[in-house]
Amino acid sequence: MSRIDNLPYNPNELERELAPYYICASKNEIQEMMDTIGVKELKDLYSHIPKEVLMTEGPKELGERLEYEQLVAHVEDLAKKNNLKTSFLGDGLQQYKVPSVVPFVCDIRGLTTAYTPYQPERSQGTLWTLWMYSSTLSMLTGFEAINASFYERSTCLFEACNTATRIKRKTNKVIISEGIYPGDLEVLRTHAKETSLELITLPIDEETGLTDIDAAKSLIEKEKDSLAAFAFCQVNNLGLVEDVNALTDLCTEANIQSIAIIDPMLLATEGLLAPSLYGSNDQGADMIVGEGQHLAIGPNWGGPGLGIFGIRYNDKNKTAIRSTAGRYIGKGEDGSGKTCLSIVLSTREQHIRREKATSNICSNQSFLASAAGAGILARGEEGMTESMMAGRELANQIFVELSKYQELSATYPHSPFFNEIIFTFNGDLDVLMQRASEAGIHLGVKVDERIKKNNQLKMSFSDLQNDDDLEKLINFLDDHLTAQESEEELYTPEIPGALLREGEVGLPNFTEEEIKNFYIQLGEMNVSPDDNIYPLGSCTMKYNPYINDYAANLQGFTDTHPQAPMVDTQANLEILFETQEMFKSITGLPGVVTQPVAGAQGELVGLKLFQAYHRDRGNAQKKNIILIPRSAHGTNPATATMAGFETKKVDGVQYGIITIEADANAEIDFEQLKNVVAEYGERIAGIMVTNPNTAGIFETRFKEMADLIHSVDGLVYMDGANMNAIAGWVDLGAMGVDAVHNNLHKTWTIPHGGGGPGDAIVGVSERLLDYIPGLQVKKENDQFVAFKTPKSIGSFHRHHGNFAHKVRCYTYLKALGSEGVKQMSAIAVLAAKYLYHQLKDTYPTLPARSENSPRMHEFILTLTDDEFSKIAAAGTPKSAAIAKIGKLFLDFGLHAPTVAFPEVYGLMVEPTESFTKKELDDFISVVKEIKLIINEHPQVLQTTPHFTPIKKVDEVSANKNLDLFERITSFPNLPKNVIDPGELSAMMPSDVTKKILVAHEASSN
Ligand SMILES: Cc1ncc(COP(=O)(O)O)c(C=O)c1O
Repeated sequence: MSRIDNLPYNPNELERELAPYYICASKNEIQEMMDTIGVKELKDLYSHIPKEVLMTEGPKELGERLEYEQLVAHVEDLAKKNNLKTSFLGDGLQQYKVPSVVPFVCDIRGLTTAYTPYQPERSQGTLWTLWMYSSTLSMLTGFEAINASFYERSTCLFEACNTATRIKRKTNKVIISEGIYPGDLEVLRTHAKETSLELITLPIDEETGLTDIDAAKSLIEKEKDSLAAFAFCQVNNLGLVEDVNALTDLCTEANIQSIAIIDPMLLATEGLLAPSLYGSNDQGADMIVGEGQHLAIGPNWGGPGLGIFGIRYNDKNKTAIRSTAGRYIGKGEDGSGKTCLSIVLSTREQHIRREKATSNICSNQSFLASAAGAGILARGEEGMTESMMAGRELANQIFVELSKYQELSATYPHSPFFNEIIFTFNGDLDVLMQRASEAGIHLGVKVDERIKKNNQLKMSFSDLQNDDDLEKLINFLDDHLTAQESEEELYTPEIPGALLREGEVGLPNFTEEEIKNFYIQLGEMNVSPDDNIYPLGSCTMKYNPYINDYAANLQGFTDTHPQAPMVDTQANLEILFETQEMFKSITGLPGVVTQPVAGAQGELVGLKLFQAYHRDRGNAQKKNIILIPRSAHGTNPATATMAGFETKKVDGVQYGIITIEADANAEIDFEQLKNVVAEYGERIAGIMVTNPNTAGIFETRFKEMADLIHSVDGLVYMDGANMNAIAGWVDLGAMGVDAVHNNLHKTWTIPHGGGGPGDAIVGVSERLLDYIPGLQVKKENDQFVAFKTPKSIGSFHRHHGNFAHKVRCYTYLKALGSEGVKQMSAIAVLAAKYLYHQLKDTYPTLPARSENSPRMHEFILTLTDDEFSKIAAAGTPKSAAIAKIGKLFLDFGLHAPTVAFPEVYGLMVEPTESFTKKELDDFISVVKEIKLIINEHPQVLQTTPHFTPIKKVDEVSANKNLDLFERITSFPNLPKNVIDPGELSAMMPSDVTKKILVAHEASSN
C-alpha cells in the first residue's frame, strides 16, 4: 500500500497538487507562451540582468526533488524522529486539548489560502472569523478593542510599550516586571535597543516570588517624570498569581499606563479576574497583552504564536486606540444597508502612514486568531471552564503530592498559584530531569536563573494530562525520591477572592455542527488560489500545496515543546539546519536567520544587524541615515523608524530616511543616489531596495549601487518579497546584498491565512554573521545542536520563530529540489511576461515612460487620461477610479489586483507559476472585457461589486462609528454570494458584462 493512500486528502483529486514543482502549465503551453513573447529558452528571461550577478549553477544544496510519495514518507519519518513524552513543560506555552472544530476550520481552503481582507466585499469570510476572535476575547477580558493580533506575546509587549509612550507624550520609559518570561524580555530588549524606548526591570521579591508592591511604588516614584507605563503579569513566570489590583492602582495613582500580561485561558468562568476589572478605577488595566496559541494549536516548538493585544474603547476612553498598532475589524453596513465587516482605523498602519505608522507590522497572525476564535466557540462557556479547571485541579493535587517527598519543598508555600507550581529540589535537578526524561517524562522547566536559587522545578498542568500521565509521574517520583515521615495534612495556598472572576463570561454554547456550518459558509465568501488566478501584485498568491499543511500538522512536530531537550527534538533541528543550508544556497549568502516571522520583521532584523555592525565599529551615533526608494513597500520606511532611524530635521540637519526617486527606466535614480552619497557619505547606515522592484523591474545597477554604499561603509538591505522572480537565477552575494528577507508566505508557498501568519527567512553577508539573532543550528557527530552567535543581537521571537511554517517551507523545498527552484521562478516570470505582452496594447502601463524596461513577475496597468475623464463624467472621480476597477474584478469571480500601490493610478498584476495557459488566457479575456466595460459602461463602476455577498462597504462610516465587538449569543445570518465566484469565472466574460449591466440597473433604481 502506498503512503499516499493514508493521507487525509486524495492528491489525485486535486488539480494542482501533483504537478511537478506545482507548475500547472503543460510543456506545450510553456512553449506556446515562450513563442508568443519571443524567448527560446527560460534563461533568456534573465538576459537583461548583468552576467556577473547571475548564478552559474543554481541552488545546488537542494539536490534532487522528492517525488510526491517519497516526500510523504520523508516528512512522516522525520516527524517520528522527535520523542514526544508526557510533558509538564508549559511555561507560557501550555498545551491544551484541541477541539475537533479547530483542525476542521484549518482545512477550509477558502479561509486558509485567502489574502488579507483589504477587499471586504470578497473577504467577509476572513473578516467574520476575526470578528469571532476579537469578540470572544472581548467577552473573556472585558476589553472592547482587541486587534486582529500581533506575532506573539513578546512583540505585543513591545507594541504596548510604544503605544504607552505615544499616549503619555514626552515619556520614554517603561517598567517591566521580571515576572515576565525571560524569552519575552530578551525580545523586548532586542527591539528596544537603539530606539528611544528605555526599559527598566523590576525584580521579583525573593521571599514571595511576587512583585514587591512597595518596591514597584518606589521605582514608579523615582522614574515618574519620564515614565509611560508599568507592565506586569497576572500569573508570573513562576506560576504565581500577582496582586493585579494593587499593581493597577499604583499605575492609576501615578497616572501611567498599566499593561497587564494575561493568559486568556485562565479568564474563563471560575478563573481569574478579568483585566477590565483590575484595581479600583472603573476601567481596569489600560492595555492587555498575552499569548493565545494554546487556544487553537499545540506548542509547535514555539510558533506560530498568537499575540493578543487589547485596549479599552468606550465612552470614557475613545482616543487611546488611535495610538495603538495593528488591524482592527469593525462592523458596519454595505451600500444596501446589510450588516458587514471591514478593516478599520487603517490610517495608523504602515501601508498608509509609512514612516509615521504606529508599527511596521503588515502580516499578523490572522489565521491563528481565526482558529483561536473557533477554539473558544467550540469549547463554549462550560468547555472553557472545564479545560481551565482541569489544569487548576491537577496543579493543586500535584502540589500536595510533591510536598510528600523529603527532597521536594514548595519554593513559595504561601504564594497563590493557578495551574503551575514551583518546587525546590534538594539534590541535582538536572540529574532528576534526565532520569525523568529516560522514563518518558518531561518533568518541567528548571527556573534557577529567574530567582537566583538552585534546583528550582516549575511544572505546568492543563486538560491534556490524564490519569495515566499522573500515575507515570507519581511512579517515577516514588522510584527516585523518599516519602516524608510525618503524615500532617497539606494545604495549597488560596487565591484571594479579589483576584478571581465574579460572575460568568457568558460564552455561547453552540453544537459542533453549528460551528462547522458557520465556518463552511465563511469559506465560501472568500476566493482561493486553488480555484483561479489571484492576481495580487507584490503578494504572490500562488498555490499552497496540501502536503505542506499535512507535514506541518504531523503530531511529531505540533506537539514538540521548545524547552524539550535537544535530543528529543532532533527532527526539528534537522529541518532548521537543512532550511538554513538550503537558503544559503538559494540566496548565495553565507548566513541565514530562521527566526523572523514576517517580511516586516525580517526587515527589522536586517536593520538591527546593520546597527550592530556599525556599533561594533564605533559608528553607532554617526550612522543615522537610511536610503529608501519612493516606490518601497510601506513596511520599509516603517521598519526604519521602528529600528530607531527616526526621520527628522534637527538644526537643519536631516536624520532618518532619505527618499530616492526612480529614473526613466523605473529603476533607482543613480544620479540622485550618487549625489546623496556624496552629501551624506559617512552618515549612511544603509539602503533598503526591493529587487525586482515593486514595478516588477529588475534593478540592473544593483551591484554598482551596493558598491557605492559599501564605499562609505553603508550596508545593503534587499527586500526579497519578489524573490519568486529570481530565486535560483540571481546570486544575491554577488550583487552585494548584506541582508535579505524571503517571505515564506509569498515565494515559498505558505498560505496567506487571510493576513498571516507570515514568515521570513533572512540571508546575511559575511559582514553580519557574528551578530545573527536567535538560534543557529550546526551538525556535530550526527547530532543537531542549536547555538547562539558570538555577538548575537538577541531575539525577535521566542525560541525558533514560526516553526510550523518552517516545516511547510522545508516540505516545499524538498518537492522542488535545485532544478525546481529555477523552474518555479522562471515560469512565474514567463506567465507575467505573457500576460503583459497580451495586455500592454489594451492598457497603458506604469511607471510612465518605462514601457521598454523588461517586466519580470508582475506589472502595473493603468488607463488613459480619456478613460479617466470618461469614468469621472459617469460619476466616479479619478481618485476613486482604480479602487472601483479593482471591485470590477470581483464581479468576474476573481480577487482584485493590487490597487493603487506602488502607483496611485495602477493595478498591479502578478499571476505566479501556478496556473495553466488556459487560465491565463481566460484571465486576459476578463481584463480586456473590463476595459470594454470601462469604455462603454463606465457608470457601472458606481455600483460595483454586484455579485459578492455584500455590496460596496461603507468604510467611511465604519471608521466614524467604530463598532469593534459584540457579545456573541448566536451566529449571524450570513449573506450569500449573489453569484458564486466559480460560476462567474466559468461564464463568457461578455455574459458577465450583461449580468453586471442588469445588476447595475437594478441597484440604481
Ligand atoms: C515588497 C514587500 N515588502 C515587505 C512586505 C512585508 O511582508 P510581511 O507582510 O510578511 O510583513 C510585503 C508584504 O506584502 C511586500 O510586498
